[in-house]
Amino acid sequence: MTRRILITGGSRGIGRACALHLARTEAASLVLLGRDAAALNASAEAVRLAGGRAEIHCADVTDRTGLAKVARDLGPLDGLVVAAGISGMTPVDGASDAFFDQILAVDLTGPWNTVRAFLPRLGPGGRIVLVSSVLGRFGVPGYGAYCAAKHGLIGLAKALALELVDRGIVVNAVAPGWVDTDMAQTGIRQIAAATGQTEAQFRAQAEAAVPVKRFFQPEEVAHGIAWLLNPANTMQVGQCLNLDGGVIQS
Ligand SMILES: NC(=O)c1ccc[n+]([C@@H]2O[C@H](COP(=O)([O-])OP(=O)(O)OC[C@H]3O[C@@H](n4cnc5c(N)ncnc54)[C@H](OP(=O)(O)O)[C@@H]3O)[C@@H](O)[C@H]2O)c1
Repeated sequence: MTRRILITGGSRGIGRACALHLARTEAASLVLLGRDAAALNASAEAVRLAGGRAEIHCADVTDRTGLAKVARDLGPLDGLVVAAGISGMTPVDGASDAFFDQILAVDLTGPWNTVRAFLPRLGPGGRIVLVSSVLGRFGVPGYGAYCAAKHGLIGLAKALALELVDRGIVVNAVAPGWVDTDMAQTGIRQIAAATGQTEAQFRAQAEAAVPVKRFFQPEEVAHGIAWLLNPANTMQVGQCLNLDGGVIQS
């Protein structure tokens, strides 16, 4: 039976890679959500070429009314991948409060809004995966808002998992390390500038800190997410799967 899975952040990066993986491996029917119609359309076209079906919805995960509107006209779902997110530096001495608030709104309240909007579309057997980060596992100077949001997201996954398990809905999170996407490029540029290094120097330093000595491709993260989404995953509940090449070993 064709599974129908909604992916926020389906227009780019990890969300898009998940959509393509599910299209390729099980000809899934994907519901792609983001803010940029052109980028969503490009993802949807790629999904169709990969053997899946796709529909797109433009919505901002901070806009509860917009999400409710999308959910109202949607049929049943089998899974939900909450990948939409933003990042950026919020040094305690220099960040604007508005930027701190924005990161929390997109990266923590956004997933809450998303789960609340689409939960009624999920029945027994449903799967939810929240995309956290290694910055949800440890702190990084200058990334207070992002670290707070991503730590919070793991807490949200744990609580929701226990709340929804009796309905047959399985909730988990993933914590990827550095993944080659637009977000990572921006992060490299900002940290290099803040630490007086070239982008190449900072990237080499960041890769050296990963036991497998490299960044990851979005497709590699998609494999982990697909496992948690799979009906065969009956035992991993309320956990956070580290997808970081050995940085964290618990
Ligand atoms: N890249 C990494 O190294 C890394 C590592 C660990 C965790 N992560 C996490 O993985 C997730 C995906 O990141 P990525 O690297 O794939 O980033 P990306 O390439 O920048 O993609 C971000 C996605 O989120 C969507 N998005 C952003 N703000 C949104 C909003 N307010 N409403 C709806 N959609 C929104 C974007 O779509 P539009 O801009 O078109 O709306 C885009 O599809 C994020 O949660 C991120 O924190 C990334």
